[in-house]
Amino acid sequence: MISIEVCVGSSCHLKGARDVIDAFNNEIKHHGLERKVFLTGAFCLGKCLNGVTIKIDDELILEVTPEIVPDIFQSRVLDVLGV
Ligand code: FES
Repeated sequence: MISIEVCVGSSCHLKGARDVIDAFNNEIKHHGLERKVFLTGAFCLGKCLNGVTIKIDDELILEVTPEIVPDIFQSRVLDVLGV
């Protein structure tokens, strides 16, 4: 199980956290990984200036936009799971 937390604190919310969540949701559904990837919202992850901030397992990733979600998903999820 890989955990993806998307910050939904006020700063990240204003920067489009909802769209980032939607983009991850699309990837998860597209690849049928609902049982292997746990997607959730998180409170402020402490990097508000560089949001949208996400955390995949123990790694913080900054300045996430929906456009780069497919690349992140490929390297941090699909490659790791060997899909
Ligand atoms: S609100 Fe997202 S890191 Fe602070």
